[in-house]
Amino acid sequence: MAKTPMRVAVTGAAGQIGYALLFRIANGDMLGKDQPVILQLLEIADEKAQKALKGVMMEIDDCAFPLLTEMTAHSDPMTAFKDVDVAVLVGARPRGPGMERKDLLEANAQIFTVQGKALDAVASRNVKVLVVGNPANTNAYIAMKSAPSLPAKNFTAMLRLDHNRALSQVAAKTGTQVKDIEKLTVWGNHSPTMYADYRFATVNGKSVKELINDQEWNANTFLPTVGKRGAAIIEARGLSSAASAANAAIDHVRDWVLGTNGKWTTMGVPSDGSYGIPEGTMFGFPVTTENGEYTIVQGLEIDAFSQERINLTLKELTEEREGVKHLLP
Ligand code: NAD
Ligand code: LMR
Repeated sequence: MAKTPMRVAVTGAAGQIGYALLFRIANGDMLGKDQPVILQLLEIADEKAQKALKGVMMEIDDCAFPLLTEMTAHSDPMTAFKDVDVAVLVGARPRGPGMERKDLLEANAQIFTVQGKALDAVASRNVKVLVVGNPANTNAYIAMKSAPSLPAKNFTAMLRLDHNRALSQVAAKTGTQVKDIEKLTVWGNHSPTMYADYRFATVNGKSVKELINDQEWNANTFLPTVGKRGAAIIEARGLSSAASAANAAIDHVRDWVLGTNGKWTTMGVPSDGSYGIPEGTMFGFPVTTENGEYTIVQGLEIDAFSQERINLTLKELTEEREGVKHLLP
């Protein structure tokens, strides 16, 4: 028997990431090749943005995706988020000329307060929310705080791009394949302070740390390469990462919904106090997922170097949170 369609909202649907994401959702890459989907697409009310969205929808129509049962365009989150099972929040205010980080935080705090409230009012009670728009962890935190009737665990931030970037760097360094690497994670904020950690990782059962055996490379090459990869792509392309970000969003939601079969991945989730991260902080953790729920991997040893890195990224997140406190309900 055919499955009931799942409702998926995507915001910023006419943007670059939207263009790399929507076709793959409609093609079944995110929720499964047997899962029909309904797309509910949100863009700002601006005439140009809505027109561009219509153009993207024309192209999606022209793909004649068998799994796509319905698709609607919206400029109001209250209609876009109605009954959604999954919400991928991509749309955000980019940093403009002369804009300080604080201005960016405030502009986005407003967007994610409105969207959190709308999710609270109209989304499925089991909605899975992924925030991609930057600053992703703090935006996810704001949306979560603005949706008090939804479980906090339904709100997550995207660290998967950092995770995938780290996998590629480790595979290149060890001369192995990404598919054979397990138990890698990225702690903290989606920002250059994130801490990509391969201490527990294995490749074909061998310890990655022992294979690399080079703390100097870890501290001075690997971490800066992964941490500054977003900026390197902007510098090279003149635009921020889009296809790889969309791919990471697909990976994140697919693993959350369909499970990781005991394998680790990285998700930004509200802390339950694990590893001394204050409860509620939206933090990248190693997780496993099963039956639509994630569990933070427990019992990992945090050595002095790792603790220092975790403290640094936590400090940044705490400062971001302080910066928007006055805007929260
Ligand atoms: P983009 O500018 O091409 O597209 C963003 C779209 O969002 C625009 O079409 C804009 O009209 C729309 N938008 C803005 N405010 C909106 C709102 N309130 N409601 C609905 N739509 C809204 O940008 P992009 O390249 O697609 O990137 C989107 C965001 O993702 C940026 O914040 C970017 O920094 C972030 N990003 C995050 C990661 C990550 O790993 N977490 C990676 C890459 C990019
Ligand atoms: C990325 O990691 O590629 C983006 O978050 C970079 C950015 O600042 O948009």
